[in-house]
Amino acid sequence: MTVSTAERTASAVRLEQVRKTYGKVRALDGVSWAFPRGGFTAVMGPSGSGKSTFLQCASGLDRPTEGTVRIGDVDLGSLSEARRTRLRRDRIGFVFQAFNLIPSMDVEQNVTLPLRLAGREADREWLAEVVGRVGLGDRLRHRPAELSGGQQQRAALARALITRPEVVFADEPTGALDPRTAREVLRLLRETVDRTGQTLLLVTHDPVAAAWADSVVFLSEGRIVDEMVAPSPAAISARWESL
Ligand SMILES: Nc1ncnc2c1ncn2[C@@H]1O[C@H](COP(=O)(O)OP(=O)(O)OP(=O)(O)O)[C@@H](O)[C@H]1O
Ligand SMILES: [Mg+2]
Repeated sequence: MTVSTAERTASAVRLEQVRKTYGKVRALDGVSWAFPRGGFTAVMGPSGSGKSTFLQCASGLDRPTEGTVRIGDVDLGSLSEARRTRLRRDRIGFVFQAFNLIPSMDVEQNVTLPLRLAGREADREWLAEVVGRVGLGDRLRHRPAELSGGQQQRAALARALITRPEVVFADEPTGALDPRTAREVLRLLRETVDRTGQTLLLVTHDPVAAAWADSVVFLSEGRIVDEMVAPSPAAISARWESL
């Protein structure tokens, strides 16, 4: 299959025939999908269906066993380990279920860490804008232990956005939060996509979380088996039950 340059650059992330095996386990079994630029896509599937493996391969954290992954028009397989790391730092943001904040650092230090790692300066205005957007403008000197779970996840989101990444990957970012706090974080993710045109891929078990996305793709046994566009939580639950 050949893909024209126009098609390729229209998608923020594109997988072609991606397989990932761990010994005899086929965690991803031939995934081909194009994620549109500026889109919010949720990836759902039962435990063990390959969601985290998908996210790691699609984001360049891990290499597939076979197939290609492109971020914009860059084929990750063509990059050295060092250049792949740089591309991740420059163009991708991550949010995880366990917020992964550094306990000894305050909010400002945590949020600006990706910039320091990339050897870039923290622009004060942009920092203020990002922490303001997540509602932590008055918490810059607080350490993670001094924040609620929702505030910690909002700090993690600010950290993911500080580099102005093209694509944000989130793996169960609301899994550790109560429903109300989860809604707050999802609203922020939704606003981010709507306001900035960034692309968001969200892995989740939760039909309510997935319903915030423009479209939901379903993984089962390492393959994408369905897509729903703008589904309701009830429709997602019904499809989920039948997987
Ligand atoms: N590092 C690894 N070594 C061996 N097998 C692995 C490894 N990582 C994942 N697997 C296997 O690959 C399959 C997919 O795992 P993955 O973590 O992607 O599932 P998941 O959909 O994220 O599940 P969950 O919802 O429980 O997080 C599973 O069978 C898992 O046991
Ligand atoms: Mg997982």
